[in-house]
Amino acid sequence: AGSMTYRIAVLPGDGIGPEVTREAVRVLEAVGAAAGIRFEFVEAPIGGAAVDATGDPFPPETEQACLAADAILLGAVGGPRWDREPVARRPESGLLRLRKGVGAYANLRPVRVHPALAGRGPLRPEVVGGGIDILIVRELTGGLYYGERGVQQEPFGERAYDTMVYTTPEIERVVRMAFQLARGRRRRVISVDKSNVLETSRLWRRVTEAVAEEFGDVELEHMLVDNAAMQLVRNPGRFDVLVTENTFGDILSDLGAALCGSLGLLPSASLGLPGRPPLFEPVHGSAPDIAGRGIANPLGAIASAAMMLRYAFGLEREARAVEEAVDDLLAAGPWTPDIAPPGAPVAGTEDVGRAVARRVRERL
Ligand code: NAI
Ligand code: MG
Repeated sequence: AGSMTYRIAVLPGDGIGPEVTREAVRVLEAVGAAAGIRFEFVEAPIGGAAVDATGDPFPPETEQACLAADAILLGAVGGPRWDREPVARRPESGLLRLRKGVGAYANLRPVRVHPALAGRGPLRPEVVGGGIDILIVRELTGGLYYGERGVQQEPFGERAYDTMVYTTPEIERVVRMAFQLARGRRRRVISVDKSNVLETSRLWRRVTEAVAEEFGDVELEHMLVDNAAMQLVRNPGRFDVLVTENTFGDILSDLGAALCGSLGLLPSASLGLPGRPPLFEPVHGSAPDIAGRGIANPLGAIASAAMMLRYAFGLEREARAVEEAVDDLLAAGPWTPDIAPPGAPVAGTEDVGRAVARRVRERL
C-alpha cells in the first residue's frame, strides 16, 4: 500500500440504498485508515433519486463517474413513488443501463450461512452443520434471455418461442473464471447443466471438460440442474463453486439466497470485461417498507464492499478482515431486527456499520 489510490463510484440510489451504502463506505474508510490504503469516493445519483434530480435515471454525469472509477458500489433503486413513470424514467431502466455499460459476463452470488445463524433460515441446523459457503457463478450475457424470440398467430391461438444459444467462447470465459475463483477457495467446481436434454448443455459440458484440463488442481463435478436444486437444500455443504448458464443461475441463486435467512445479508458482484469497472451491490432492493427508519441490515452492502476489496483490488487480507468482522457480528451482535435472535436487543443500521468498522480496525 501507499501511493496507490482506488477510485470508487458510489451510487446510493433509493429507499434503504443510501442507508446501507453509507455503512459500506464507513467500513471501506476504516479499512483504508487501518491498512494505509487510499480510497477515493465519487458519489453520483441513480434510479428514482436521479429522476427527481435530473429527469434521467442514469444521467451522463453518473455514467462518467462510473467509467472513470476502478469499481462501482451500488445501493438499490426503485420504489412506489416512481412506479407510474414512463419506462425511460423508471429507476429500473437506470439499473439496466448501468449493468449493460459494465458489460459483465459473470455474476457472483456468494451464499454463506454462518454456523451462528444455523436454524434461523429455513434449513434444519443439522443440514447447515458447520456452515454453508457457496459461490454461485451465473453466466450473464447469453442463453434464453438473449436468444431469438417471437410470438405468432396460429389457427388454434398463439405460438411463442424463446431460444437458448451458447458459443464456445461464451462458455469458456465464465467457466475459466469459476475455476480461477475455486483456486482461492476449496478447489471444487460443480458445473450445472441439463445435458440429458439440451444441446447447449452438452456443449457446456464439453467446453467445461476442456477448461478443466488447464486446472489439474481443481476438482470438477457435473450436476443436472434439477438434482442441483435438490442438493442445495438437502446437502448444501458439498458445494464450493457452482457455475451455470444464465437462466439456471437466475433460479438457483434465488434458491441459494433463501437458504440464508435474511435477504439483507447477501452480497453480489458482476465482473468480466477487462477495462470496465466491476459492479458490487447487495442482492436486496430498496425495501420501501422499512426505508427511513434506520433499521435496514447493512451487512449485505458491507459484504459487497468486501467482494470489491477481493475481486476489484486484489486486497485479500482486507477482504477477509471485513468478512470476519461480519461473522463476529452475526455471532455476537449488534443485530438489526431481521436477524436478531428472539429476545435479543435490536440495533440500527448505523450501530451495525460502526461495530463492523471497529472490528475491522482491530483486525488490520
Ligand atoms: P426488497 O428486496 O426491497 O424487499 C423485500 C423484503 O426484504 C422487504 O420486506 C424488505 O423490508 C426486506 N429487506 C430487503 N433488504 C433488507 C435489508 N437490508 N434489511 C432488512 N430487511 C430487508 O424487494 P421488493 O420489496 O420486492 O422491492 C422493493 C423495490 O426495490 C421495488 O421498487 C423493486 O423494483 C426494487 N428492487 C431493486 C433491486 C435493485 O436495485 N437491485 C433489486 C430488487 C428490487
Ligand atoms: Mg432473479
